[in-house]
Amino acid sequence: MTQQGLGIDVGGSGIKGGLVNLATGELIGDRIKIATPQPATPDAVGETVAEIVRQAEWDGPVGIALPSVIKKQHALTAANIDPTWVNTDVQELFGKHLAAREVYVLNDADAAGIAEATFGTPEASTGSAILLTLGTGIGSAFLLNGELFPNTELGHLIIEGKEAEKRASSAVKERKDLSWAQWAKRLDKVLREYERLFQPDAFIVGGGVSRKHEKWVPLLSVDTPVIPAQLRNQAGIVGAAMAVEKRLAP
Ligand code: BGC
Repeated sequence: MTQQGLGIDVGGSGIKGGLVNLATGELIGDRIKIATPQPATPDAVGETVAEIVRQAEWDGPVGIALPSVIKKQHALTAANIDPTWVNTDVQELFGKHLAAREVYVLNDADAAGIAEATFGTPEASTGSAILLTLGTGIGSAFLLNGELFPNTELGHLIIEGKEAEKRASSAVKERKDLSWAQWAKRLDKVLREYERLFQPDAFIVGGGVSRKHEKWVPLLSVDTPVIPAQLRNQAGIVGAAMAVEKRLAP
């Protein structure tokens, strides 16, 4: 039987889950999506995650991607999620909501990074690459020959007095109703700083805006190639399911 896993990606607006074929990185059946409860407290999110597991009729271990630094299975930050997540023991939390089954929790951009390195664009698995998820915030995953250095949080790098994700996330584009050119200029400033500090072989860009990459990638001035992620918005789910298989629990 094909190796399968259930991955769940907790986002600012939706919590998405799906069964993943771990040999191909493809979803088996439909993606399940439930609006993120507001406020997105640990218990409210835990309940929604349990509901997705029920709908998927899955009784195995579960991988969960969160928009938070995850160290020793504790959430350490909460930039775009309820502040009460800080210092939450995620094993204890999800253990409580999921009847003590095995869970593996990791950062959402890290999940997208390992998925892309295994099933996505070749640049994610060779040399040094920085994968960026451009959404409500900016998430980052550092990859070296496809191996992850977790919890890099480049969205919070302060550039000319302002956090990168406050300058150039796609939420900022929407909120300020920026044109592609105006937003690309902001993102370019951010990428130039990342380039100056880390000199990766490639930037790999994911998130909804990567579907329209031809509108803004040509406007960037960085020398490092900027490559759209191939997995798009499924990447977090796939990476979360892979965390179970890899027994990855940063
Ligand atoms: C969080 C990261 C997360 C990113 C994308 C940031 O605000 O600090 O942990 O990966 O948003 O969701």
